Amino acid sequence: MKKIPLLFILLWSVWPVFGQTTKMDLFVRDLMSKMTLEEKLGQMNLSSGNIGAVIAGSDGILDVVRKGQIGATGAYTFELAKKIEVASQESRLKIPVLIGVDVIHGYKTGFPIPLGLASSWDLARIEKSARIAAVEASASGICWTYSPMVDIARDPRWGRVGEGAGEDPWLGSQIAKALVHGYQGDDLSKENTIMACVKHFALYGAAEAGRDYNTVDMSRLTMFQDYLPPYKAAFEAGAGSAMSSFNLIDGVPATGNKWLLNDLLRKKWGFKGFVVTDYTAINEMMFHGLGDLPQVSALALKAGVDMDMMGLGFLNTLKKSLAEGKVTIQDIDTACRRILEAKYKLGLFGDPFKYVKEDRFKNEILTAEHLQFAREIASRSMVLLKNSQQVLPLKKSGKIALVGPLADSAADLLGCWSTGEVSKTVSVLQGIKQAVGTGAEVIYAKGANITDDPYLKETIKNPYAAYMGLKEAVESRTPAELQAEAVVAAKTADVVVAVLGESATMSGEAASRSDIGIPECQENLLKALVATGKPVVLVLVNGRPLTLNWENENVPAILEAWAPGIEGGDAIADILFGDYNPSGKITMTFPRSVGQIPIYYNHKNTGRPFDQKNKFTSKYLDIPNEPLFPFGYGLSYTTFNYGEVVLNKTVLKGNETLSAKITVTNSGKVAGEEVVQLYFSDPVASVSRAVKELKGFQKISLNPGESREVEFKITTETLKFFNGDLKYDWEPGAFVIQIGKNSQEVKQAKIEWSK
Ligand code: BGC
Repeated sequence: MKKIPLLFILLWSVWPVFGQTTKMDLFVRDLMSKMTLEEKLGQMNLSSGNIGAVIAGSDGILDVVRKGQIGATGAYTFELAKKIEVASQESRLKIPVLIGVDVIHGYKTGFPIPLGLASSWDLARIEKSARIAAVEASASGICWTYSPMVDIARDPRWGRVGEGAGEDPWLGSQIAKALVHGYQGDDLSKENTIMACVKHFALYGAAEAGRDYNTVDMSRLTMFQDYLPPYKAAFEAGAGSAMSSFNLIDGVPATGNKWLLNDLLRKKWGFKGFVVTDYTAINEMMFHGLGDLPQVSALALKAGVDMDMMGLGFLNTLKKSLAEGKVTIQDIDTACRRILEAKYKLGLFGDPFKYVKEDRFKNEILTAEHLQFAREIASRSMVLLKNSQQVLPLKKSGKIALVGPLADSAADLLGCWSTGEVSKTVSVLQGIKQAVGTGAEVIYAKGANITDDPYLKETIKNPYAAYMGLKEAVESRTPAELQAEAVVAAKTADVVVAVLGESATMSGEAASRSDIGIPECQENLLKALVATGKPVVLVLVNGRPLTLNWENENVPAILEAWAPGIEGGDAIADILFGDYNPSGKITMTFPRSVGQIPIYYNHKNTGRPFDQKNKFTSKYLDIPNEPLFPFGYGLSYTTFNYGEVVLNKTVLKGNETLSAKITVTNSGKVAGEEVVQLYFSDPVASVSRAVKELKGFQKISLNPGESREVEFKITTETLKFFNGDLKYDWEPGAFVIQIGKNSQEVKQAKIEWSK
C-alpha cells in the first residue's frame, strides 16, 4: 500500500519535465494509429507549386493536401497559405500542413544579406532581425524557415557565401545560436515564432573550386574543428529541423549519409527534430551514382532523412520498397512521427489556422518599427574598407554626382534569396536625395550596365523576375554613351559617389564566379570617373568578397555596403554623410587574387613559413600571401588606439580563469564603435593548429578621447580542440593571446597553462 503514493509522488514530480513530451507522444501515437501507409508517406513529402499538379491523379496543390499526400509545402502569399490550411482540414485526418519558405534575411522587411548581418558583429541585433522575420513570416502563414544557413565558407567564388556568416567557426556558431533563438524564441508554440531549419547539413560551403553543388572532400579533423561547430551550436540552441545538403561527405551524399544523419546528428549530438532534404537532393543521388530512385529513396530514409523536398521519391517508391523488405515500417513510422511532432510543437494541431490570422497579416508586416530597425542594422552591417584624405563623411551641400548601375536599383539592394518588398525598397538615389534635402544637388547617371559581357549577361538573368513583378530594364544607350554622361556629371560635381558591384543575381545559389572582380564595364566606368580628378567614393553593393586591387590603389574611399536590404539606400546615406559612423568588420577574407583562394585567416602554418628572402618558402612569385583585407578588418571615421594586453597571471593551472585586459581609446574626433577581437593560438600541440583562432569579441562604443578597459575571461574551454582521435580536449603548454582590431593588427601576450 505504501508504495503507490511514493510512485505517485515520483511521477508527479517529473511530470513538469516530461509532461509535454508525454502528451505529445500520446497524441502522435494515437494519430499514427489511424493513419494509412499512404498518409504516412504523404507526411514525408514536401511538394509545392506546380509539383502538386504532377502528383499522380491530382489537379493541383490543394487537391494533394486534401488527399493527405503532403506534409509540407511553400506559400509566398497569405491567401495561398490560408487555402492550404483550409484544405488540410478537409483531409481525412485533418493534419495541418507545414508551410516552409526561405525566409533568409528578413521577410517583407528585407534585412542585409547574412554575410552583411554577420559583419555587424552585433549578436543582439542579428537575433532581433530573425525575431522580426519570424513575426512577419508567421503573420503571413509561414511556420517554418529554411534558415539559418550556417555553412562555413572559405571560397568567395561560391555564390552562397552571402547567405552565411563567413569563414569563422566560432563567430559562425554565435550567429547560428542568435538566429535560431530569434526565429524560435523560447516557445515554438507561440503564434509569432517559427521553426528554424539548419542548413545545409553538412559542409556544403566547401564545394570544390567554389562551384555550386560540387564535390566536397575534407579530413574528419577539419570537419570537426572548422566546419561542424556552427551546425552543432544551432542544434544545441534548439533548432527544430535540419536540411541535408547536396554534397558528398566521405564519398556518400549527405542526404544518404547514415554516419552524418543518424550517428553524428542524432546519436552523438542528441538532435530530436526532423531532417528534410535539400531540393530534390534524394533524386540527385542518382547522378552521384548511388542507384535508381527507389534505391536512393530507401537509402535516404535508412540514413535518417524524414522528409523529401520536391523529389517525390518517398511518396512514389517507399511503398514498394516496404513490400520488398528494403525499408521497414519502423523506418517510415519514425520519419512520420518526427514530422508530426514538429507540427505538434508548433501548436498546429491546437489551431491549424494560427499562422493565417487576418489581423496579424494586416498589422504586423512592414511596420514603421521594422523598417526603422532595417535601417539601423543595415548601417551597422556596412564596412568601411578605405577612407584616405578623409573623403568621407560627405557634406550635405554642393553637387554630388551619383553614378552606377546599382545607384537607382531597388531589387539589387535586397540581395539574393530575398522575400523583401521591392516596391518599398529605398534605392541609393532615393536615400541620398532624402538625406540632403535641398542642401545639395544630386545628379544621377547610370554610367554603365551591370555587365556588357554576353555570357555573364545571360547567366545572371533573374529566373523569377516575372514572378517578382520585375521588368527587365531595356537600355537603349550604348556603353560609351552611358559612360560619357556619367563623366560629364562627375566633372560638374564636387564629389562622385559610384555605386557598383554585383546584381542580386550574381550571388546566392547557382551563382558561382571564377572572376570575383567588379565586372569590366563597371571597372572602366570607375577608371573614367577617377580620371576626372574629382574625389570618388566607391559604394559596393554585392554578395561576396571581391578582388579590389585597382580600386584600393586608386579610389580614395570604399564602402562595402553588401546587399543592405529594404532600407539600404537610407542606411548608405546615413554612413556617407556621417549620421552613422561605420562599425562593421568583414567576416570573410578579401583576397588580392582568385589565385589565393581558398584564403582564410585561421589557416595552418606550413613547414616553410613565408620568408621574402628565402626562395624555398610557401609563397606566390607574383603577389604576397596576405589578403587585401583580412578577416575582422573594417575602419571607422574615428581611430582607436590599443594599449598592451594585461594578464592577471601568465602561468596557470587546471581550471583557473585567465583575465586578459586591454585599454582601447578613441583617439579621433567623433564617437564610434569598435569590435575588439580576441584571438588565441596554440603553437605546440599533438596536431598542427591554426595560426590563430577567434575566441571572443566585444563591441564597444567610445566618445572622442574616451578610454575603456575591455576584459576577456578565458577558461580551459577556450583551449580545447579536436585531436588526432577526434577527442575534444586541451593540451597543456604555451599559448598566445592576441587582442586587436582585426585578425592581423593585434597586441599579444604569452601564457603557460598546465593540467
Ligand atoms: C537550396 C536551399 C533552399 C531550398 C528550398 C535549395 O535549392 O539549396 O537553400 O532552402 O532550395 O528553397
